[in-house]
Order: sequence, then structure tokens, then C-alpha cells
Amino acid sequence: LPRADGIDLKAHIRSVPDFPKPGILFYDISTLLRDADAWQIAIARMTRALTPRRPELLAGIESRGFLLAAPLASRLGLGFTMIRKPGKLPGPTVGLDYELEYGSDRLEIQQDAVRPGQRVVVLDDLLATGGTMAAAISLLQQVGAEVVSAAVTIELNFLGGRDKLGVPVDALVSYD
Ligand code: PRP
Ligand code: MG
Repeated sequence: LPRADGIDLKAHIRSVPDFPKPGILFYDISTLLRDADAWQIAIARMTRALTPRRPELLAGIESRGFLLAAPLASRLGLGFTMIRKPGKLPGPTVGLDYELEYGSDRLEIQQDAVRPGQRVVVLDDLLATGGTMAAAISLLQQVGAEVVSAAVTIELNFLGGRDKLGVPVDALVSYD
């Protein structure tokens, strides 16, 4: 763990106007990911936020959620399950269509992804409208998980995404 944890993570997140569509301000974590110290600190802070939730399994949302779920699961000594875009997961799956900040999409999970009642924390890079996270939570619940919280690097408060979720949300940085 890096010694100095005075890092302002917002300084490592780049905002890109009009991407991927006019009028959308895109929060780009590429600049956070490629800074070794800042990324270590982000993962360490996320680990501290998740630990009190006592997860037994993590879930990551394709694709940027995977970037968090894998290192966090490794640090916490847990496994993680993938919530994926359509047609990627073999075997019996459950799917859900949902609205995105820009467009619509679909997520799927394997029917045997979790043990019944298993405590799961679901991870993504960004909580915007909450459509993606709400779909992921619903899928996890449909396959028998107890979703104990959602965790994101970035929350866009002004879109009110957390009000759609029905589980507590841990966010590292937020924008009003
Ligand atoms: C982005 C982001 C979140 C979601 C947030 O994913 O990574 O998953 O949108 O938006 P919402 O709260 O309004 O649903 P995107 O589908 O763009 O794809 P990616 O993660 O594969 O890059
Ligand atoms: Mg995403």
C-alpha cells in the first residue's frame, strides 16, 4: 500500500465533453488506471469501503466494472462473478434489458453465478443514471444473491442513480 494517501483522486479523472454524444460529459478513468500510485490508492480505498459490508463474493459489470472487481476480489481473498453484455456467457443465463444514459443495453448473468443467499457486492466504475447498476442488482437477486451493497469509483449525484438501487452505495468520488 503506498504510504501517502493524500491523493485527490478527482485530479486523476479526466472529464471529456461531448463524448460519446453531444451534451454528455464523460468521466474517463484511463488517467487514473495508468497512474500506478493513484490506482493503488483507489483500490485500497475501495477495499476499506467494502470490508464492512462483509461480502462473500464480488460481482463486476462488463467492462469497466471488471477493472475493479478483479483486483478487489484478489485483495479481499474472494472470488468474483461476471455480469456481461449479451451472448458472452455460456450455459443457462438470465438477462435483463435496461436504459443507459445514452441508449439502451442488456446484461446477462449465469444462473449458477452465486450460491443461494450469498452476500454479494457489485462493482462498477461509474454510477450515472443507475440503469446499469439496477439491472445488475436485479440479475444477482434473480439468481439468488443477497446484494449487500453497490460500489463505484465515480458517482454522478445529479442523476439520482442511487435512489433506483435499494441497496447502500459506496462511491470514492462524486460530482454534483
Ligand atoms: C458505462 C459505465 C457504467 C454505466 C453507467 O458503461 O461504465 O457501467 O455506463 O451508466 P448508467 O448509470 O447511466 O447506467 P458502458 O455501458 O458505457 O460500457 P463499458 O463499461 O463497457 O465501457
Ligand atoms: Mg460500464
